Amino acid sequence: MKKTKGIILAGGSGSRLYPLTSVYSKQLLAVYDKPMIYYPLSTLMLAGIRDILIISTPEMLKWYRTLFKDGSHLGLNISYAEQNEPKGIAQAIIIGEKFIGKDNVMLILGDNIFYGDFTEIRDAKEKNLHSTIFAYYVKDPERYGIVAFNTNDKPKRLIEKPKKYISSYAVVGLYIYDSESPKIARSLKPSARGELEITDLNNAYLEKGRLEVIKLGRGFAWLDTGTPESLLDASNFIGTIESRQSLKVGCIEEVSLRMGFLKRSEYDSLVKNYPDSDYKKYLINIAKDIKNRENS
Ligand code: G1P
Repeated sequence: MKKTKGIILAGGSGSRLYPLTSVYSKQLLAVYDKPMIYYPLSTLMLAGIRDILIISTPEMLKWYRTLFKDGSHLGLNISYAEQNEPKGIAQAIIIGEKFIGKDNVMLILGDNIFYGDFTEIRDAKEKNLHSTIFAYYVKDPERYGIVAFNTNDKPKRLIEKPKKYISSYAVVGLYIYDSESPKIARSLKPSARGELEITDLNNAYLEKGRLEVIKLGRGFAWLDTGTPESLLDASNFIGTIESRQSLKVGCIEEVSLRMGFLKRSEYDSLVKNYPDSDYKKYLINIAKDIKNRENS
């Protein structure tokens, strides 16, 4: 089975969130109790991915480096790369060419939040032959890359932000590609908005009959954080789940422990040095809970 690496694209200017984004990159803003990027990072980790490249603007990379360093404290291997200008999501695949090498890659957008059972995503990663994307039913298809299906439920066509209705299935910001993807991405032409569109990369795979589309079911939440309203909705959603269950969403240290990326002793010494906070208390309690369960 092929290894899969992860790329988080945390670029862009976040202009729709101005002035919230006038100093910080959008993906560093708070979603309830954590920086936004914790959620996509935990998604990759829950898919079993440990080699991760974070791509951001030259000015913002230093903050991501401060936040995650080389990732070893989380049992990860994190590296960084610059996107000098926001030239589209597909450009991330070109920037990541060396990093991808001969492996598969799961690309996630730094502002996409996923909540639910990740078995489907993990399985898709294992099964991926060429490319796999995920579709989610939305009320506002004109805001996204959209996929239309034929009667056998196979993808028929993909259009970026269609003006005319073609389908209610949006393509979410989580994509799996093989090692051919940088070559294909380099052959794309910039769109009218001057970007290398991820939809064009997906269409290139579709034309070759090499695109798998998986519909995410109704038990799954895909949240958008592009506007002040949707950012607040995402915070409220996470806050509601967390206070109802007293379990955290997107808690990267907990995920490391549960996925076996960190030994218990490594986890304990990491958490010991955290500032006194509810987050630290949670991390201590969750480890005790796991231990009690193992002993009972
Ligand atoms: C981008 C993609 C679009 C995708 C969306 C998911 O849109 O171009 O295909 O559906 O992310 O968040 P953008 O963020 O550029 O509006």
